[in-house]
Amino acid sequence: MRTDLFLIPGSVDKKNLTGKTVVLIDVLRASTTICQALHSGARAVIPFEEPGEAAEMRAKLGQGDALLAGEREGIKIDNFDLGNSPREFTPQSVAGKTVILTTSNGTRAYNKAKPAALILTGAIVNISKVAARVARAGNDLVIMCAGREGQFSIEDSICGGMLIDKLYTEHKLEMELNDAASLALLLYRSNRKAIKETIAQGEHGRYLQRINFGEDVLLAGEADSIPVLPVLRDSRIIIEESE
Ligand code: MLT
Repeated sequence: MRTDLFLIPGSVDKKNLTGKTVVLIDVLRASTTICQALHSGARAVIPFEEPGEAAEMRAKLGQGDALLAGEREGIKIDNFDLGNSPREFTPQSVAGKTVILTTSNGTRAYNKAKPAALILTGAIVNISKVAARVARAGNDLVIMCAGREGQFSIEDSICGGMLIDKLYTEHKLEMELNDAASLALLLYRSNRKAIKETIAQGEHGRYLQRINFGEDVLLAGEADSIPVLPVLRDSRIIIEESE
């Protein structure tokens, strides 16, 4: 299986995604939040790039059925119902609702991934589910790390490396890696005993701790703690039916 990892989404060419599985990774925090929202019973999460587009969709769906969620600089957007902390997405707040989500980096990548055959939301909290689905699909794989404002972020690359490690060791796949995928695998393997610490020491981990979201950083580093498989279908992220 050909496996290409992109350290930042800007370097991905849409034309090369046809027929492939794409895993979109934003460990801090969009991917973790999407997993939590669906695990708590949200009907779907609809990702948007901009707050204005998100608000238009909410006006279409109506306040009873849909919640507006998202952040800029990690903080809830004014007049939105929820921010982007996974701890806000409890069954009490989201069960039975559609969550319309816009985040600084994580939700931007979904549009770009659209030509792919299968688009999955990947995080540390659901890593085994994602690995099993990637192996079952058997397509060539593209791992898109959301990064931070167009720059590399350590937690997304470690998560990408963790996925590749699982595909090798648990699913026994033969993979041909690009150099960024090899780098991510090395990064994961050399940090596997200190994943949470490494994430907490990263730029975004430190930033979130400074703005009082340190608990989110710890939660996002718990492997397989939110075992759901979010998949993008018709522009909505849902739990795959066969799950
Ligand atoms: C993002 O999309 O950049 C993040 O999810 C930011 C955050 O809320 O931590």
